[in-house]
Amino acid sequence: MDHSGVSEFIVVANRLPFDLAFAEDGTRAWKRSPGGLVTALEPMLRARDGAWVGWPGVADAEVEPLERDGLLLYPVCLSGAEVADYYEGFSNATLWPLYHDAVVRPIFDRNWWNTYARINDRFARAAANVAARGATVWVQDYQLQLVPAALRRLRPDLRIGFFLHIPFPPTELFVQLPWRTQIVEGLLGADLVGFHTAGGVRNFRWLANRLAHGKINGPRAHSAIVYQDRVVKVGAFPISIDSGTLDRLARSAAVRERAAKIRAELGNPKRIVLGVDRLDYTKGINQRLIAFHELLAERRIDPNDTVMVQLATPSRERIEHYKKLRAEIEQTVGRINGEFARVGYPPVHYLHQSLPRDELIAFFVAADVMLVTPLRDGMNLVAKEYVACKYNLSGALVLSEFAGAAIELNQAFLVNPHDLDGLRNTLYEALTVPSEEGRRRMRALRRQVLSHDVDRWARSFLSDLDSSVAPDALLEATSNSSPEINDPIE
Ligand code: ADP
Ligand code: G6P
Repeated sequence: MDHSGVSEFIVVANRLPFDLAFAEDGTRAWKRSPGGLVTALEPMLRARDGAWVGWPGVADAEVEPLERDGLLLYPVCLSGAEVADYYEGFSNATLWPLYHDAVVRPIFDRNWWNTYARINDRFARAAANVAARGATVWVQDYQLQLVPAALRRLRPDLRIGFFLHIPFPPTELFVQLPWRTQIVEGLLGADLVGFHTAGGVRNFRWLANRLAHGKINGPRAHSAIVYQDRVVKVGAFPISIDSGTLDRLARSAAVRERAAKIRAELGNPKRIVLGVDRLDYTKGINQRLIAFHELLAERRIDPNDTVMVQLATPSRERIEHYKKLRAEIEQTVGRINGEFARVGYPPVHYLHQSLPRDELIAFFVAADVMLVTPLRDGMNLVAKEYVACKYNLSGALVLSEFAGAAIELNQAFLVNPHDLDGLRNTLYEALTVPSEEGRRRMRALRRQVLSHDVDRWARSFLSDLDSSVAPDALLEATSNSSPEINDPIE
């Protein structure tokens, strides 16, 4: 592996794939970082022998570049005040809620914005120092939307890709952002900007035309924008998981034994309902608990034979809305168990913990119904992980229409999580689906997930990034095609 600090392929993300943790005696240890971005990118980067630039997850930690589990890591240090303004503030109390349909009210704070811009610059400089001449740099997610343009200014020789892991919002929400033009121009610094869905591509193209109007100086095509005489490609690349590895692990004797043990530990219920999420207000965790509660209250399900397990990774715990959500969920769990538990047999098992990978897979194998009910989600990898683990075609997936995954996983039990009656009835339908229909649905879901894995996603993005187009070629390609209609820019 190349230790000279000159890498050919670099991922830049807010977080490194491992967080630094301090034990009580002050010794340092690394643990896996939370979230779907790391789940998807870690196997992708490992297969490509690249470097990763990111924050080690704690404030004020000065850490030298290091190699861990075969990955070369370049830490970017953030002070406590920077974490508060750039990460907890602008990234997670402005952009995160705004991009998720404003399910909570985004806060617009000028100091947070200034810090966001400064920290994006720092990430760009870190990437510029690590990259070899002509290297490929792949910038990730909403925390780093100014990095593509900042990096291009420093290193015009690089090939720069950007991928957004969360939804790109409807245009009327995005234009509320006081710094909307800077964000759009930040992204236009890339050679290729990728989103999960065609809707994201459409919204971005509309905004680029509107906000960077004077600098868009070439022909318009569906998959590219000519910006300051450069072609910026745009495209939809639905992210996925390392599905083959999950399938293999789920079939292993150790995982199967553990799954049987989990069922026994839960009191050998007839049916296990499972939820697995970061504890986030976009995930619809309370809504699904309410649906479960209502089915118990209506006696359509029996607490003696149906249990629910909710695994929730602690997340962004210092942000007000996350604290509030945790209190709400714990209150709902307490209420359900208070009403329906027997001693030693609560109907809801709630773990506010991050579980080791194999243990999580055993829960997927054990679960009869998986509840994935976000109010809005870019993709949602948990839905795909569940499907990849159901090697014997058992199990039913209840999936929100508002997760990006619903586009590919349309054989799931699709549901609108805002509609509590619909959610309750769909959960019941999934719990009582005839076995043949359940198997048919799961077979179709698995065909999709196993044939579209994260490696295919990465290859498709990177090959598009590799084949850059000259503006003249774009002009030729589009002069023969019919002009776009319905574009409200003109
Ligand atoms: P997000 O990126 O918003 O967190 P995703 O569903 O796309 O949502 O990805 C979440 C990732 O975190 C998945 O890989 C999932 O398996 C993992 N995960 C979620 N909750 C837990 C948990 N309690 N323990 C271990 N891993 C978890
Ligand atoms: C989502 C985001 C990622 C983020 C992850 C965990 O997957 O798209 O960018 O890393 O959540 O959130 P955190 O704030 O803990 O990094």
